[in-house]
Amino acid sequence: MKTRIVLGIESSCDETAAALVTGDRVILAQRIASQDEAHRPYGGVVPEIAARAHAERLAPLIEATLADAGMTLDQVDAIAATAGPGLIGGVMVGLVTAKALAMASDKPLIAVNHLEGHALSPRLADAALEYPYLLLLVSGGHCQILLVEGVGQFRRLATTIDDALGEAFDKSAKVLGLGYPGGPALERLALEGNAKKVRLPRPLKGSDEPHFSFAGLKSAVLRAKQSGEHSDADIAASFQQAAIDCLVDRLTRALAKVGPINALVVAGGVAANKAIRGALEALAAKHGLPFIAPPLALCTDNAAMIAWAGMERLERGQSDPLDVAARPRWPLDPEAEVVRGAGVKA
Ligand code: KG4
Ligand code: ZN
Repeated sequence: MKTRIVLGIESSCDETAAALVTGDRVILAQRIASQDEAHRPYGGVVPEIAARAHAERLAPLIEATLADAGMTLDQVDAIAATAGPGLIGGVMVGLVTAKALAMASDKPLIAVNHLEGHALSPRLADAALEYPYLLLLVSGGHCQILLVEGVGQFRRLATTIDDALGEAFDKSAKVLGLGYPGGPALERLALEGNAKKVRLPRPLKGSDEPHFSFAGLKSAVLRAKQSGEHSDADIAASFQQAAIDCLVDRLTRALAKVGPINALVVAGGVAANKAIRGALEALAAKHGLPFIAPPLALCTDNAAMIAWAGMERLERGQSDPLDVAARPRWPLDPEAEVVRGAGVKA
């Protein structure tokens, strides 16, 4: 059978993106328009500005992506778009565009959960990765440990009770005057610092409950900066090490609780962090598990992961009606208890 092709659309935060992905895991074309410049003066994503930028850019971006692949919409087998969770204005721009394309071309529409996009992206990169696997999903809006049992089958084992890890990176970076988005800049600065110089807390480390907490760590970074006693590089390195210690501790707990799994997997924007990758790789090795992380370009928000999640659904005969709703909140595991703080996004 000829391999199928899915057009993926992503617009849930501050990246406008489109991609064409085949059932054989080939990314035929992909384009991403970042809005970092538009949001930089505000130090964070402004929803109204984001929605307007998506509305202006998305249609030409899709056209250009098809042109890059030398294709027309007729050659696409399905159209997949992020339908949530995320900033609702942007999500609606992407989803409504996908509906119009699906209607005009008479192709199936697939409404993708953005988090499922992140969670399945390692399977786009690695054909050998089989369900079930343990996933650390770390992004600007989320910090969760999930047991991924199949398409649409997730068990959330842990989440954050306050800040997501990417949020803690971004806020700490802001305290250190590193600008927005801060995660990558903080990682670079940390390379020049000594992680043992600044004593910072490891919230919930060793705790009986499964969750993460990063608000206390972020506040401690602010106090360390205000004390004037430490170099920014030492604060950055110490922050990053504290975050890594928390991740490793919470994952060790989760690994002791789950049944047999095929791999330890990391996904989401923070998975671009090389120090974090290194620590997780060591942890996986200690547990005799393969460690799998998607290539950096697939870690941060992108449309290839949305197209791939759409492909996995299409291959299982799934699609959505044209009246499917955009969802600002959309937990991967509907059974998971709502946790303090994290309830906003997770
Ligand atoms: O998945 P993503 O692109 O967007 C969502 O939140 O859905 O993740 C963005 C987050 C931001 O908080 C950004 O600072 C963080 O990922 N990030 C990093 C690195 N690269 C991106 N955090 C730490 N180290 C990095 N190298
Ligand atoms: Zn994301």
